[in-house]
Amino acid sequence: MKNVIYLETTTSTNRDAFEYAVQGAEHGTAVIADTQLNGRGRLGKTWRSPAGKGMYCSIILRPKVEPQNYPLLTFVAGLAVADAIEKLYGLSAGLKWPNDIYFKGRKCGGILTESSDLNGIEESRFAIVGIGLNVNTELNDFHPELHETATSLYLESDVILDVKTVFLEIRQELIKQVKSFEKTGFLPVINRWRTRDFLYGSRLAWVSVGGRKVEGVSLGPDDEGRLHVKDDSGKIHEVMSGDIRLCK
Ligand code: BTN
Repeated sequence: MKNVIYLETTTSTNRDAFEYAVQGAEHGTAVIADTQLNGRGRLGKTWRSPAGKGMYCSIILRPKVEPQNYPLLTFVAGLAVADAIEKLYGLSAGLKWPNDIYFKGRKCGGILTESSDLNGIEESRFAIVGIGLNVNTELNDFHPELHETATSLYLESDVILDVKTVFLEIRQELIKQVKSFEKTGFLPVINRWRTRDFLYGSRLAWVSVGGRKVEGVSLGPDDEGRLHVKDDSGKIHEVMSGDIRLCK
């Protein structure tokens, strides 16, 4: 059994996992905390982490893939989370490009993938997959401005779930799916990811690299994981990163 470090309180499990990885922790080592004081989300956002409500974990990966493909681990992780939840509770999660777990249009979790210096020597390279999942969160636990847009496994199933069970299944699923990614490449991953893509065909808005707001219809991710969006003039944009919002 690979190492699992359980913490009551920490600043951010991604930060802890990063430090363990620098010290040489092996592939699959994970840090999980009851609560985080400064949980980090994508694009510099904060991930609120109330104790006893959510799963906050970070898993160290040393995948045998080219370092430029490390960002694709976010897609592998999204699938691993969705598959684990389905296996445990029969709930079918949707995925929102590139890193969110959704149920019926409401966000239930997110993934933050961070990497070491990928130009460094192969032995010292690693990625940290940080996963935040609303497990037993009730509506009133969310900030009021999230009441219409957030959900939890509890709100979807009406059952209080064991956070540790959820974590162990996700970690096992992630390690398994990283192995398949190493063996068979990204195409089978993205093909399976597309079956959970809940944005496909929806109208969305994002801010382009130049800071311009663009609206269009999602055509889903291409074989390299870039999101394709068709704007009203018929032009197809390739979105590499950024915040994607569904238009009402
Ligand atoms: C997002 O949706 O923006 C990604 C959120 C990722 C949050 C998790 S919680 C565990 C791990 N530690 C962190 O500081 N962040 C990730």
